[in-house]
Amino acid sequence: MDAANSRKRLLLKVIVLGDSGVGKTSLMNQYVYKRFSLQYKATIGADFVTKELQIDDKLVTLQVWDTAGQERFQSLGAAFYRGADCCALVYDVNVAKSFESLNNWHDEFLRQADPPSPESFPFVLLGNKIDVDGGHSRAVTEKRATEWCASKGNVPYFETSAKEDLNVDEAFLCAAKIAQTAG
Ligand code: GTP
Ligand code: MG
Repeated sequence: MDAANSRKRLLLKVIVLGDSGVGKTSLMNQYVYKRFSLQYKATIGADFVTKELQIDDKLVTLQVWDTAGQERFQSLGAAFYRGADCCALVYDVNVAKSFESLNNWHDEFLRQADPPSPESFPFVLLGNKIDVDGGHSRAVTEKRATEWCASKGNVPYFETSAKEDLNVDEAFLCAAKIAQTAG
């Protein structure tokens, strides 16, 4: 890359998907504003936050789109998904059903986004709420999650807590890095 290109600002769009209540909004609030609330307020429709990042020699504006997990609040069409550079899937490690929904979110994203090479589209997986009950209420093992990731073509995996701010920066930084590889 030449000097002019390396100074270019890059806008990367990441879409966060997963069942209602897994902590999508909380993860984004922790990542961008460093705040957390135990109060649950369902996301309606979709909204984005941005964060400026320096990745190697590039200035990146990361645009992270929060979406509604509750079906009745979902309002995103295919046109919206189509601009995505990365999809971050989130489940709650204490709720098996939220893990079992991942295939649906994954396939539905690809169906709507319709990227040129779906088999290599960058996904990242976040297993959230690892802080709950000191890990005693876990319903999905790390092994099960990493096997799922392997089955989808080496999807990077992070175990996170939006509450305790564990691995949140790392997960979104990874999303930003792999987003650069999207066609
Ligand atoms: P929808 O907007 O309905 O799709 O839900 P969401 O995925 O955005 O979930 P949200 O971030 O609103 O979090 C749901 C609830 O879980 C809230 O009460 C949060 O405080 C709580 N929560 C989120 N992340 C964590 C976490 O890491 N640990 C704990 N203990 N609670 C969390
Ligand atoms: Mg939300």
